[in-house]
Amino acid sequence: MGKQKLTGEIFYPSSDIMLRARVNDWDEIRAKAEVNPEEFWAKEAGELHWFEPWTKILDESKKPFYQWFVGGKTNIAYNCLDRHMNTAHRNKLALLWEGEKGEFRSFSYFALRRETCKFANVLRSLGVQKGDRVTLYMGRIPELVIGMLACARIGAVHSVVYGGFTVEALHERLEDSHSKILIVADGSYQRGKIVPLKAIADEALQRAASVESVLVVKRTGEPVNMEPGRDMWFHELMTLPIASTQCTIEKVDAEDPLFLLYTSGTTGKPKAILHTHGGYMVGTYSTFKYVFDIREEDRYWCAADPGWITGHSYIVYGPLLNGATSFMYEGAPTYPFPNRWWQMIERYGLNILYTAPTAIRGLMRFGEAWPNRHDLSSLRLLGSVGEPINPEAWKWYHRVIGKGRCPIMDTWWQTETGMFMITPTPVVPLKPGSGTRPFPGLKMDIVNEEGKPVGINEEGFLVITTPWPAMMRTIYKDPERYVNQYWTKFPGVYLTGDSAKRDEDGYYWVIGRVDDVIKVSGYRLGTAEIESALGSHPAVAEAAAIGLPHEVKGNAIYSYVILKTGIEKSDKLIEELRQHVSHEMGPIAKPEHIEFVDSLPKTRSGKIMRRVLKARALGQEPKDIMTLEE
Ligand code: WTA
Repeated sequence: MGKQKLTGEIFYPSSDIMLRARVNDWDEIRAKAEVNPEEFWAKEAGELHWFEPWTKILDESKKPFYQWFVGGKTNIAYNCLDRHMNTAHRNKLALLWEGEKGEFRSFSYFALRRETCKFANVLRSLGVQKGDRVTLYMGRIPELVIGMLACARIGAVHSVVYGGFTVEALHERLEDSHSKILIVADGSYQRGKIVPLKAIADEALQRAASVESVLVVKRTGEPVNMEPGRDMWFHELMTLPIASTQCTIEKVDAEDPLFLLYTSGTTGKPKAILHTHGGYMVGTYSTFKYVFDIREEDRYWCAADPGWITGHSYIVYGPLLNGATSFMYEGAPTYPFPNRWWQMIERYGLNILYTAPTAIRGLMRFGEAWPNRHDLSSLRLLGSVGEPINPEAWKWYHRVIGKGRCPIMDTWWQTETGMFMITPTPVVPLKPGSGTRPFPGLKMDIVNEEGKPVGINEEGFLVITTPWPAMMRTIYKDPERYVNQYWTKFPGVYLTGDSAKRDEDGYYWVIGRVDDVIKVSGYRLGTAEIESALGSHPAVAEAAAIGLPHEVKGNAIYSYVILKTGIEKSDKLIEELRQHVSHEMGPIAKPEHIEFVDSLPKTRSGKIMRRVLKARALGQEPKDIMTLEE
C-alpha cells in the first residue's frame, strides 16, 4: 500500500486493520496469480478435501464449457461439515439463527452434520438419487440450510426458490427442473404476518406434474392442507428409523452438478444457472476467506436470503467451508422497530455485516438515533452487494454503522459467477461506490460495441476474459442459450450484462445492467417475467415493463399496459393488475406504477423498445430510434 498515489476520495484501512489482517501483501498475491492463475486456484483447492486428486486444473478443450479440477473427486457438503469433525470446529457454532418473533436456535458443526445426515437418509429413502432435482421453498430458516446440504451430501441437485416468490414463479421452476421432491415450510413470517407458503405451493403443484413427495417443515403451526400419499411432515420423518445419523457420502466428480438457481436474463423465462461441486467450492471458499478475512472467533452475518446466490455462496457454502460461524435472521430489518438489526448485532456480538445498498438506504431513512442506541463495537468489517452503492449510502454505512473503523467490502458478482469477482480485501484503500479491482486470478475488461477496450473513465461493457473456478457451467437443459447469451456478442469473452468504467487507478465502477434485467431492492427480475405475469390477466392485451431510478429500491418497476378492446380503464383495475403480478410472481415484482396506453414503441421486427419508454419516462430524448416503427 501507499506505493502509488490514488486519485479521488480515498478511505485507507486503519493501522489496526493492517496489522491484524491475514494478508497484507494483496497486490503481491494478485500479481502472482496474474502470471499463473491456475497455480493460485490449485493452491486454494489444496486446502480442501479431495477423495481423489484432480488430474487437470483447467480443461479448456470444450470452451466455453470450461471444466475445473478434472478427474477430482470431492463433495462440498463433506468439506462444509465432515472435514471439521476431527478439528476443534466440531464443537464450534456453525449456524446461529434468530426468528422474526425472537426465537433463537443454534447448531454446532457436529449438530449441523447430524441433522444433515438424518435428512439425507430421509431423502434417499424417498428414492432421491444422485443427479435428481429437489426444490426447496422456505423462508430463512435452518431447515433450508439442512435441506441444501443434505442434497449435496447425496449428490442430488438442489433448486432453492426464494420464499418471496409465489405461484407461477414456483410452478415454472418446479416444472423446468423436473423436481421429484418439494421441501416447503407451512409458512413464513414477514413483518408479523404469515406468508402461506404451503398454500401457495399447493396451487403451484396443481400446475406441476413431476413432484412425487412434498415434505413440509412446520414453522408457523398454522393449519395446512396435507395431501395423503404426497405430503409428509419433515419433523415426523426425522424421528423415523430411516433418519439415521449414519449416512455415507456420495463421492462426486468435481464437475457433477451441485445446484440450479433460477435467475432472470435478457429474454423469456428465468433460466437455471448450473453450478458444480468442485469449482464452486474452491471459489466460494477462497473468496470468503480473503475478502472477509475470516477469523476463528468471528460471528459473521450475511443478511441476504438463501433463495438467491448471495445466500447460497455466502450464508451457506463459503462460511461453512471456512469453519466460520454464520448468523441468519428470518425477518424484516425494520420489524418490529427500525433497530432490529442493530439490536441483533449487539446481542450476538456480530463482527461482520454483509448486506445490500437498498437495505442501507432503507435503514438510513429512520435516522442515526436507532443505530446509536446500540453497541456496535463488535463490528470489524462491512460488506455490500447486489447493486451499485451510492456514495451517500456508503458514507452513512461507514460512519454510522462502522463508526469510521470498518472497511466496506463492496463485492461485485453475479448468480452466474458464483463468487466475488470485483472486490477489495480489508487492506485495500477504498473509494465509495467502487468495488476496487478483480479478485486474484481473474482478468476483466471494459469494451466498446466492437469489443475493443475503452479508455480511462469511459463507459463500456463489462466482460471477463479468462475462466474462473466458480463460473456457471451451463444453463440447465439449454447449452445453446448459455453460449448465445454469454459468449457470443464478443466471441470467447464472458459478457456480464453490466456496464462499467475503470478509473486511472484501475478501480472498477459498475454502473448497472445494460439488458432487460431490473434490480429492484437488489433482487434480480426480468422485464419478460413481469410482462408475462401482467399478460396472464384477462384484461391485458399487451404489457411492457421498465425499471426507473428509485431512492431506496435502486430501481422501481414501471409498466405500460394495453387493455383488450372494451375493457374500461380504472384505478381499481390498476390495483387489480398489481395484485395479480404479486400473486403470480411475488410481491417484489409488483409494479410501482401502471399506465394504460394505446400503443407501445416497437422495432420493425415487433420488439418492444423499452429504451424509448425509459427515456420518455425520464423526460429525455431517446437515443437512436432509427429502427422504431412509428
Ligand atoms: C448487480 C447478485 C454493483 C450487477 C450477487 C450484477 C452489483 C447483478 C454489485 C447480479 C455491486 C451485484 N455493485 N452492481 N457490488 N453486485 N451487482 O445475479 O448488475 O442477483 O450483474 O447476483 O447485480 O445479480 P445477481
